[in-house]
Amino acid sequence: MTTDDPLLQIQGLEKVYPNGYKALRGIDLEVKAGEFLVIIGLSGAGKSTFIRCINRLIDPTGGTITFDGRDITRVRGRELRRVRRDIAMIFQQFNLVKRATVETNVLTGALESASTLPSLLNLWPRERREQAAHFLDLVGLPDMRRRRADALSGGQQQRVAIARALMQNPKVLLADEPVASLDPATSHSVMKYLKQLQEEQGITILANLHFLSLARQYGTRVLALKDGKRVFDGAPEEITDDKFREIYGEDAVEVEIR
Ligand SMILES: Nc1ncnc2c1ncn2[C@@H]1O[C@H](COP(=O)(O)OP(=O)(O)O)[C@@H](O)[C@H]1O
Ligand SMILES: [Mg+2]
Repeated sequence: MTTDDPLLQIQGLEKVYPNGYKALRGIDLEVKAGEFLVIIGLSGAGKSTFIRCINRLIDPTGGTITFDGRDITRVRGRELRRVRRDIAMIFQQFNLVKRATVETNVLTGALESASTLPSLLNLWPRERREQAAHFLDLVGLPDMRRRRADALSGGQQQRVAIARALMQNPKVLLADEPVASLDPATSHSVMKYLKQLQEEQGITILANLHFLSLARQYGTRVLALKDGKRVFDGAPEEITDDKFREIYGEDAVEVEIR
């Protein structure tokens, strides 16, 4: 691999669900290291399916996914676990262990690379705890270590989820509607931390977002999906309100642009 090679190369990606529904109909995409790719589209366009194929939470039924020069379309077992360590993910609902402390939630992000025994006994190596503290600092939660996860606000919980993802030392961070459960102000604070990871840590980010305004503000590139197909791929500023209406129709505007 040279630095010009794409980090992620997707060719003809298809997903037909067992009921016969074609959620992805041949998507091509190349992502370079360090990009902040925002994926937009109306509900049902295939955004979640697409992003979940990349870390193989969903198995594609056609096409290929090449990551870091390796075909990962059908890897299993150890190789799949390695892929999932390199490609971390955060979710709309944060997916924290609610009754556990913030620190424990963050520490479990390193589980794939550590033994599970210390975690059961809550005996984490000092180095791990220091790392967790560092990442909690990075997402602006330096004093929350001992709090229970469910005592935090939604925006704080999503930032804990980001810190947990960072414990894997990922190359790519996938985010499926990371701010869809948050109010606008909190959404921006979470998006700013994601942007900082991309700009300062060089982490490549692929995020599904519901709002065009967020896509424009934080993305370095926008991919638009419609009915499982790519309908736009370009710079955020190229996707004007008019362009958006042209793709999705007048009716979509009220709901999607904010
Ligand atoms: N497990 C499934 N079985 C059948 N159809 C599904 C399944 N999951 C999603 N779909 C359908 O695939 C399409 C794309 O879904 P999804 O990727 O969740 O879209 P988005 O995230 O853009 O809203 C939708 O029409 C959805 O109903
Ligand atoms: Mg979705």
